[in-house]
Amino acid sequence: MKIQVVHSDVTKIVSGSLLIPTYEDKERFDPFTAALDEILNGSLTRLAKSGEVSGKFKEYVVLHPEVIPISHLILIGVGKREAFNLDKLRSVVARGGRIARRLFSQQLAVPVGSFLDFEPGQSAEAVTEGLLLGLYGFNKYKSKKPDAKQGLPKELILVVEDSEEVSLAKKGGERGSILAESANFVRDLVNEPSNQMTPRAFADEAKRVAKDLGLSIKILDKPEIEALGMGAFLSVAQGSQQPPKLIVLEYKGGDKGAFTLGLVGKGVTFDSGGISIKPSDDMQYMTSDMGGAAACLGAVQAIAKLKMPINIIAVLPLAENLPDGNAYKPGDIVKSFVGKTIEIINTDAEGRLLLADALGYICKMKVDAVVDLATLTGGVVVALGHVASGVFSTHEKLLEELLLASKESYEPIWQLPLFEEYTVQVKSGIADLKNTGGRYAAPCTAAAFLREFVGDIPWAHLDIAGTARVDADKIPYQQHPYLPRSGATGVGVRILTFLAERLSRKKSL
Ligand code: BES
Ligand code: MN
Ligand code: ZN
Repeated sequence: MKIQVVHSDVTKIVSGSLLIPTYEDKERFDPFTAALDEILNGSLTRLAKSGEVSGKFKEYVVLHPEVIPISHLILIGVGKREAFNLDKLRSVVARGGRIARRLFSQQLAVPVGSFLDFEPGQSAEAVTEGLLLGLYGFNKYKSKKPDAKQGLPKELILVVEDSEEVSLAKKGGERGSILAESANFVRDLVNEPSNQMTPRAFADEAKRVAKDLGLSIKILDKPEIEALGMGAFLSVAQGSQQPPKLIVLEYKGGDKGAFTLGLVGKGVTFDSGGISIKPSDDMQYMTSDMGGAAACLGAVQAIAKLKMPINIIAVLPLAENLPDGNAYKPGDIVKSFVGKTIEIINTDAEGRLLLADALGYICKMKVDAVVDLATLTGGVVVALGHVASGVFSTHEKLLEELLLASKESYEPIWQLPLFEEYTVQVKSGIADLKNTGGRYAAPCTAAAFLREFVGDIPWAHLDIAGTARVDADKIPYQQHPYLPRSGATGVGVRILTFLAERLSRKKSL
């Protein structure tokens, strides 16, 4: 996508489509449209009066103005002005982009000047993200590409009315495209079926990212993982023909004394449940059980492209959870990297085993804080649905930074508790710990289990089981049309990038 910033009067823009946000208010339009209304002989005012242009969120009208160099004028509702925010803007642009595609518009112009109540850089960022995320499709395996039948917009024109806003809009547009392209990269990784996206294939993708951006990377193979004593991680991979991989990826953007953020992501390329096998219904979605690892890789990519003054270490354990004659079994006892022993109760509680060793490992490195992302429990989907990720933390300040990053990036998270009592549920009679805590408070007992491996490092855990992928009938898409109808969302890239930006301004928490 070509992204251009144009300093122009709204009546003089040359484009296939022009998107005009309208409000569900008495004043439907921003003042800058007055000039447009005048050229169109007051038709905007008439459409507002008649109610044809309602301003209701996502409702739209397409005009063919003819007297200006715009083929299609798309008037799209953003809802009430006082409830308008950057996420709504991102949403209506996603919708607008798909309308433009249907209209065969090669270019989409969107005003981002100060008239939108936001700083033009922020608007430009949200607009760019909305368009790139909204036009995403995973069509790699379709013989007939649906895009061929439609005109895919090739150019985004960000319109500012004030020449001083040009550079702000440019920066915002660049940032938005880096964030959206990284999220779309995560979507691609997560949408790949598991016969393609094996631990080895994932490691190859990580290598490519590292090479492109000049990052240092180590891929540890099974013998090296064995030598490290990662018995918990390895047990999960035992039943699969695909050897496990441990990725250690580093971005060094900060100078001496800069903050070092550790990232850990669950990378189960397919979760059949193992010997505690899952029911067949919906098992196909377990190709997305590496969403945490993918989000970390995508975030490192975005942070490096934005050249943030921070250091990042990402530790990503990759494995496939399958049952065979070598598979680990309920009743087995394994020894983790930090030395704690774990009784396996359910081989479907595999994520925490990979994470236990990756967390233990990263906490031995020089990191100021660690955040892990994992599609860890079905329980968090029951509790929070597809709307928010669950967040657990041992550290008030880190949690606060994450909550602020969540607000800024509009990737919702909601705190769930880490009461000491939950640890009792994961104590074993014959080993130090067991890998399940029973039916109740499953997301919390899973987090309490992970806490046993992080020591004193400030740590937060995001359970993204409900947010990493969505389904047609579960529809967060309706309120956030930049999300897909079904498939991977790319969740994690924005919140982690905003978190890194906040932490890059600090020396310590
Ligand atoms: N990968 C699943 C969790 C999951 C469920 C992710 C639904 C996305 C959608 C995880 O490995 C799992 O199987 N968790 C079990 C743990 C249980 C056996 C203690 C669960 O939550 O049911
Ligand atoms: Mn599982
Ligand atoms: Zn899993």
